[in-house]
Amino acid sequence: MKTTIESIKAREILDSRGNPTVEVDLILACGIAARAATPSGASTGLHEAVELRDKEPGRYKGKGVQNAVRAVNTELAGAVINLDATDQGAIDRALLKADGTPNKERCGANAILAVSIAAARAAATARGEPLWRYLAVDPSTPVLPVPCMNILNGGVHANWQGPDFQEYMIAPVGAPCFAEALRWGAEVYHTLRSILKARGYAVGVGDEGGFAPAVPTNTEPLDLIVAAIEEAGYAPGREVGIALDPASSGFFVEGIYRLRTEKTVLDSTGLIERYRELVDAYPIVSIEDGLAEDDWEGWQRLTASLGDRVELIGDDIFVTNVERIGRGIAERTANSVLIKPNQIGTVTETIAAVELARRHGWGAMVSHRSGETVDSFIADFTVAMGTGKLKTGAPARGERVEKYNQLLRIEEEMGSMARYAGRAAFVR
Ligand code: PGA
Ligand code: ZN
Repeated sequence: MKTTIESIKAREILDSRGNPTVEVDLILACGIAARAATPSGASTGLHEAVELRDKEPGRYKGKGVQNAVRAVNTELAGAVINLDATDQGAIDRALLKADGTPNKERCGANAILAVSIAAARAAATARGEPLWRYLAVDPSTPVLPVPCMNILNGGVHANWQGPDFQEYMIAPVGAPCFAEALRWGAEVYHTLRSILKARGYAVGVGDEGGFAPAVPTNTEPLDLIVAAIEEAGYAPGREVGIALDPASSGFFVEGIYRLRTEKTVLDSTGLIERYRELVDAYPIVSIEDGLAEDDWEGWQRLTASLGDRVELIGDDIFVTNVERIGRGIAERTANSVLIKPNQIGTVTETIAAVELARRHGWGAMVSHRSGETVDSFIADFTVAMGTGKLKTGAPARGERVEKYNQLLRIEEEMGSMARYAGRAAFVR
């Protein structure tokens, strides 16, 4: 079967927020076709690879991606056509070379990633393998992740109308398999909806499908979620834990953390103390971006203080970048890293980020973006890499459930080989 890339065509499509993003169709010489699309963040890290936007005010308020589409159709296509799609390393090296900048600012990480993923998907099909198996280096690695479901949205994802903390996720660590974990999560989600309604809160949802109530404090969502876990019939902590992403860069203003809902300002010491109280009082399994993206020194103290009790995941501080993760490992900045393929821009570099974390005993949680498409690459990727954790929003809204549904299909496909990560997935 001829697995060389024969043609590539990109187009501008819409993401789940109604903003343009890049979709790529790629065809191999043997006729196999694959499609991929890039997601887009809202609470984007300063140090992420560049998402190329047209900045043409008359189109999509400047958010068009026609330049990225053009880059795919011309330079990037020129660089990878006739390369073998089953050699992901060579494909990604050619894409990096064609862009030629350290942060992918010329062609855009949004352009590059869609090509990189489409090549992987086409190659898997050509090999007759499901994507998760094709991507797995070691056949003993694949594992179904704990779905970390964001059921209450705050921060910028809820227009700053609710809590300052951006994401309150439930992690069904005690479930016996992925399908049950998803069922537990969906039941807790629906129970939370009833509780919110009964307490007079609005039940409209935020960008990632979680509810976005105008709560007066950052702890109220934790009380509501614990109540929902119990009322749904599960044991908080033992069966269903809570994963937090305060996304604190979003409320770090002029050197201080501003908790708007609580009319309080805290320095990093105060915020670390606050997290300690939360970890004492609630069944928290992980805290992502507890401190801001350039607060390396604060992160070190956070890790010294809580790193043996919960997984401390760096998102904006590491941006899936091996140089930044390497510094974090050397300086004991955290004990885990968030993995977002579009923060770095190629499949190969994303794999390198996971492997670096793994080699040093760090955790890794794979993640969607708040602006998504129905592309479910991250579901297969998470299984293949065996990270044991995936956050991809609420168990609601098409672009979120497509990833969870893909994991159901993968679990079915694995049959008796299927293994669910469970509690062991969270490092301490
Ligand atoms: P984003 O948020 O996709 O809007 O950046 C996700 C996160 O902060 O983890
Ligand atoms: Zn985050």
